[in-house]
Amino acid sequence: MCLLTSSAFKDTLIWVLWKPRPLDAIPTVGASGPLTSYVSAIRFMFHGRDMIQQGYRRFYDGGVFKIPMIDRYMVVVVGRKLSEELRAAPEGVFSLTQALVDMLHFDFAFGKKVYLNPVHTHLIKTKMTKAIAAFTPDLYNECIQGFEKYMPLDDSKEWKAVPCLPTCSRLSVIIINRILVGDPLCRDPEYIKLILQFIVDVFKSRMLFALLPRSLKPIVGRFATNIPSQVHLGMRLLKPILDERTKILEGSDGEWSALPDDMLSWLMASVPRDETLETMTRRLLAVNVAAIHSIRHTFSHSIFYLAVNQELIPPIRKEVEEAIAEDGWTKTAMSKLYLLDSFLKEVLRFNKDRAWSLNRKALKDFTFSDGTFIPKGTSIAACATPVHMDGSVYPDPAKFDAYRFYRLMERDNDASRHLLVKTSLEYLTFGHGSHACPGRFFAANQLKLMLSYLLLNYDIELETPGVMPERVWFEESVLPNPRANILYRKRQA
Ligand code: HEM
Repeated sequence: MCLLTSSAFKDTLIWVLWKPRPLDAIPTVGASGPLTSYVSAIRFMFHGRDMIQQGYRRFYDGGVFKIPMIDRYMVVVVGRKLSEELRAAPEGVFSLTQALVDMLHFDFAFGKKVYLNPVHTHLIKTKMTKAIAAFTPDLYNECIQGFEKYMPLDDSKEWKAVPCLPTCSRLSVIIINRILVGDPLCRDPEYIKLILQFIVDVFKSRMLFALLPRSLKPIVGRFATNIPSQVHLGMRLLKPILDERTKILEGSDGEWSALPDDMLSWLMASVPRDETLETMTRRLLAVNVAAIHSIRHTFSHSIFYLAVNQELIPPIRKEVEEAIAEDGWTKTAMSKLYLLDSFLKEVLRFNKDRAWSLNRKALKDFTFSDGTFIPKGTSIAACATPVHMDGSVYPDPAKFDAYRFYRLMERDNDASRHLLVKTSLEYLTFGHGSHACPGRFFAANQLKLMLSYLLLNYDIELETPGVMPERVWFEESVLPNPRANILYRKRQA
């Protein structure tokens, strides 16, 4: 009897572990056994870039592979044709929103009311992008105050050190929040700290929730993350501003133009009438997470590249000086900075935040034109960094060439086709297609503003001159070295 039970148990165990699974037909980079796949998932944490590159090489002529992660397989598409099919599929087939809910647990951090009704995304695409020109002088003003506070200058020729990424993070929060929540909240140290800590917690929850059943998320999240208390702090900081704006609106017979022209007012005018303070706070936190995570990394990477490639500083300074002599610190001037644009585009060709792009979740079964079957529920993405580093797409791809896109602009006598904000299947930093980053126009303007201000007023150097601080890779993501300092002093030349 006991023998029978133990043999039945063995059979059940073998069936559970080795039963056919929906993605079995898709080749794996790493192991795909029921237990060995976890070994590969751990390897992916530390060698993610190499594993994705390996898959890219193996299916170079077009194909699909999968990579074991700790909580799922990620199916990765290689080649223009299949990537285009992934991009072109409607949201009802391949969903970005559901991919974000799955990977970053947006349901816990932001709640359904925010991610199922992304009014804020529409406002970024429309109002915010249109308002860049009107806001640029105010953003410049925030640059002056922010840099004075976090990188104060004196007449000494001695270098001073600041931690680069944390300083870039604070400056990025202040400047973008000038257009999100206005002055003075954008400069409030408690608010800045909250935003930066919240971003850390959202990304930490990816690992925390990875192996939990969905139903346990709210309970574990409440005790094991700071997200609920951070939302409460956000509510406390936002409430007086919302109350004041409501009062202004009542006093002006509902005239929206009486309010400051920023994201908070646009949201007040656009969200459902019964939206609570909590949902509004979560919405603003969601915009901050989307915006700041990438801007601060790009800002920090850019400073390191400028410090290592000092010969780039004089021509970029010259370009900025000429543009602001003609147009002042305006969007028009920023849009004339073609070399700085090309430099930033090259920085992001090397340092796209994740080695894949077009990250989606299949909401329906789908079959690619090569016959590859993708079952409903699959996480899927297209190779990005391997394309950015492919010699057939970018000649001499391992060379950092700040003039790469600048030369193409000159060659074609048409800058627009080669600008940073232009997306394509060959340049996937901002995604491509209907979900391409709606904040990229703002991001490009803000990054140019911050870097122009920095270069016109400061000299920069690394602690070990000429040596790029090592980047940190985790799974498919890359970030600038978070511990490296940047040395600065008042501009001497
Ligand atoms: C260097 C800066 C930035 C980078 C590299 C970046 C990159 C991206 C990428 C790769 C996507 C996904 C696109 C896709 O899968 O098709 C995305 C989406 C998004 N980004 Fe950005 N982003 C940046 C700055 C910003 C800023 C400043 C904002 C807000 C002001 C923003 C708001 C968003 C939003 C709301 C989405 C979701 C779009 C949707 O659901 O359709 N991003 N971004």
